[in-house]
Amino acid sequence: MIRSSSITFVLLIVASLLLGRSESSCQTGCNLALGSYYLTSNDNLTYISNLFSAGGANNLLPYNPNITNVNSIKTGGRVNVFFSCDCLNGDFLGHNFSYVVVQGDTYTSIAQTVYKNLTTVDMLSTFNSFPATNVPTGATIGVVVNCSCGDSSVSKDYGLFLTYPLQPGETLSSVAAANGFATQEDLLQRYNPQANFSSGTGIVFIPAKDTSGSYRPLSSSAGLSGGAIAGISIAGVVLLIFAIYLYIHFQRRKKLKKASLLSSPPEASMYKPGVVTSPADGSSPFAGITVDKSVEFSYAELAAATDDFSLAYKIGGGGFGVVYYAELRGEKAAIKKMDMQATNEFLAELKVLTNVHHLNLVRLIGYCTEVSLFLVYEFIENGNLSEHMRGLGRDPLPWAMRVQIALDSARGLEYVHEHTVPVYIHRDIKSANILIDKNYRAKVADFGLAKLTEVGASLQTRLVGTFGYMPPEYAQYGEISPKVDVYAFGVVLYELISAKDAIVKTGGSVTESKGLIALFEEAFSKPDPKEDLRNLVDPRLGQDYPIDSVLAMAWLGKSCTQENPQQRPTMRQIVVSLMTLSSATEDWDIGSFFDNQALASLMSGR
Ligand SMILES: Nc1ncnc2c1ncn2[C@@H]1O[C@H](COP(=O)(O)OP(=O)(O)OP(=O)(O)O)[C@@H](O)[C@H]1O
Ligand SMILES: *[C@@H]1O[C@H](CO)[C@@H](O)[C@H](O)[C@H]1NC(C)=O
Ligand SMILES: *[C@@H]1O[C@H](CO)[C@@H](O)[C@H](O)[C@H]1NC(C)=O
Ligand SMILES: *[C@@H]1O[C@H](CO)[C@@H](O)[C@H](O)[C@H]1NC(C)=O
Ligand SMILES: *[C@@H]1O[C@H](CO)[C@@H](O)[C@H](O)[C@H]1NC(C)=O
Ligand SMILES: *[C@@H]1O[C@H](CO)[C@@H](O)[C@H](O)[C@H]1NC(C)=O
Ligand SMILES: *[C@@H]1O[C@H](CO)[C@@H](O)[C@H](O)[C@H]1NC(C)=O
Repeated sequence: MIRSSSITFVLLIVASLLLGRSESSCQTGCNLALGSYYLTSNDNLTYISNLFSAGGANNLLPYNPNITNVNSIKTGGRVNVFFSCDCLNGDFLGHNFSYVVVQGDTYTSIAQTVYKNLTTVDMLSTFNSFPATNVPTGATIGVVVNCSCGDSSVSKDYGLFLTYPLQPGETLSSVAAANGFATQEDLLQRYNPQANFSSGTGIVFIPAKDTSGSYRPLSSSAGLSGGAIAGISIAGVVLLIFAIYLYIHFQRRKKLKKASLLSSPPEASMYKPGVVTSPADGSSPFAGITVDKSVEFSYAELAAATDDFSLAYKIGGGGFGVVYYAELRGEKAAIKKMDMQATNEFLAELKVLTNVHHLNLVRLIGYCTEVSLFLVYEFIENGNLSEHMRGLGRDPLPWAMRVQIALDSARGLEYVHEHTVPVYIHRDIKSANILIDKNYRAKVADFGLAKLTEVGASLQTRLVGTFGYMPPEYAQYGEISPKVDVYAFGVVLYELISAKDAIVKTGGSVTESKGLIALFEEAFSKPDPKEDLRNLVDPRLGQDYPIDSVLAMAWLGKSCTQENPQQRPTMRQIVVSLMTLSSATEDWDIGSFFDNQALASLMSGR
């Protein structure tokens, strides 16, 4: 991906290292940091998610594998929150949260009771100009929480950190033990040279794992010898950066060409059921596994790969069960532990599913029926679309990429609707079920599962689907047709445009919420929808979108979400529309996104 530009990137890093050498200042931050929120009575995840702009209680769950019930969290425990770690004022690493002052708040109560000592009264006074004891109710203040992106002089193995306010009674060994560093107390002390872990106050930084279980090690390029770095003069660096800028600028056009090649439609004939299609890079995952017959894993093998299904390997949990990350036979996999046992019909169905292969479907590699039912999927590197749209520590996806993701998912769905035997209706299309691979191509997850729950024992009565995505005929009468998926897909299109959830909160309370569809319908009902639609566009896109393309996608969303299922287009028609849209959007700049991604992944060593 980065091929000829990689040298440039290494140079860029050297340059940023050189320029960023002075102790207290920073050049860039990192896209993810965690904060440890101490729970006192009456705390709830919804409130915490609001404080840290997490976009909903459920978004906190991947970072808190030991929370099993969103509605009951225990006092005295801690909840991890996530945020981007930014270089504030070019001076230090932190995240600036906005907090709306309520009656009775003081800087002391905000620091200690609301933000649980993740910030301090001093910091609130420094970054805000109100009198400390008389902060006006309703005012918005900046709450700065410090964070860390690692320190290569301590260790290059850690690039993700938890900001952890110490509590009275804690010690270096208790903190180390609670965070998986029982045998490395000295490491924690070296990351926090000034800290007295027994003092009961102050924050410390503790290395942490992301949701895929990685400590996000720093890039090894940070390890260039001091001599080599000193050999490059500052003046040289400035010149170099200018040259690099020009270089990238010209590369971009080339990249666009490449990107449009990437988006050329796959040959339908390549994806016959039962025919395994190798990834373009030739490194077929699970090449060692016979593909003609479905793969059965033993419980022992899965348990060994996940450290006995330890929380450290948990990457997600949905309505059907818990998802774990694992390396199986040398390849990355996602193991889904289902809340049900396999029946015979179920098994027959599974065998069919392992034979469905398409570039835009998450592949079911195999399963295990010992102890419980486990489904083993190929691991998809870049999380789900919902995370990307809510910006959970990720760069905003450029418009052309959103069109591509829509097209990819439409192709996956069209395939299961029309080309598999038997055909499948997904019934739970939503942005959380669209996964993004390392090349930013989309794959539909969980197809076929709705069918499995029908024959499965325990979930028989569960209405499969998610509120905000269900068409009226399905929600009310349980009428099932491919148009159920088309409707949900329309909502996903609206999400791609607006980055809003399928159910949008319009006021403070839960009752004041509105479907995303209604929001768009409102805009469409205006005499000049264009202006109103502009207001719905994801603010993170800035002005970087072609309005006509956005309008076209919005119209497609509208036709997908019509009340009458017969009037909705088929997935095949949708694919055709999106192909047209995609070729019209191809010239739109996605080169800079890849530049940033490549840089970010080099910097974080991934
Ligand atoms: N193959 C995979 N590769 C990488 N991550 C995955 C994979 N499958 C699932 N995940 C992660 O685990 C999360 C939970 O997955 P899961 O499909 O069980 O739940 P869901 O989609 O949120 O809800 P539901 O079960 O209602 O569809 C996903 O959103 C995704 O982030
Ligand atoms: C969550 O906590 C906040 C603040 O303590 C409170 O105002 C709100 O009512 C709580 N919500 C629930 C559902 O308990
Ligand atoms: C989750 O586990 C961690 C580490 O064991 C602990 O510090 C934390 O308090 C737990 N959180 C909850 C909500 O139980
Ligand atoms: C925050 O710090 C203050 C002062 O050290 C302490 O009294 C208070 O209990 C702390 N609050 C929490 C939630 O830890
Ligand atoms: C934090 O954000 C507010 C606006 O939300 C801004 O006024 C303030 O200057 C910011 N503080 C820092 C330190 O960036
Ligand atoms: C956060 O960082 C700033 C700048 O380095 C520092 O002044 C402040 O004391 C830190 N806050 C805490 C709670 O350590
Ligand atoms: C750390 O803090 C504790 C509690 O305040 C104190 O007893 C101890 O002497 C401190 N240790 C050091 C090395 O300052």
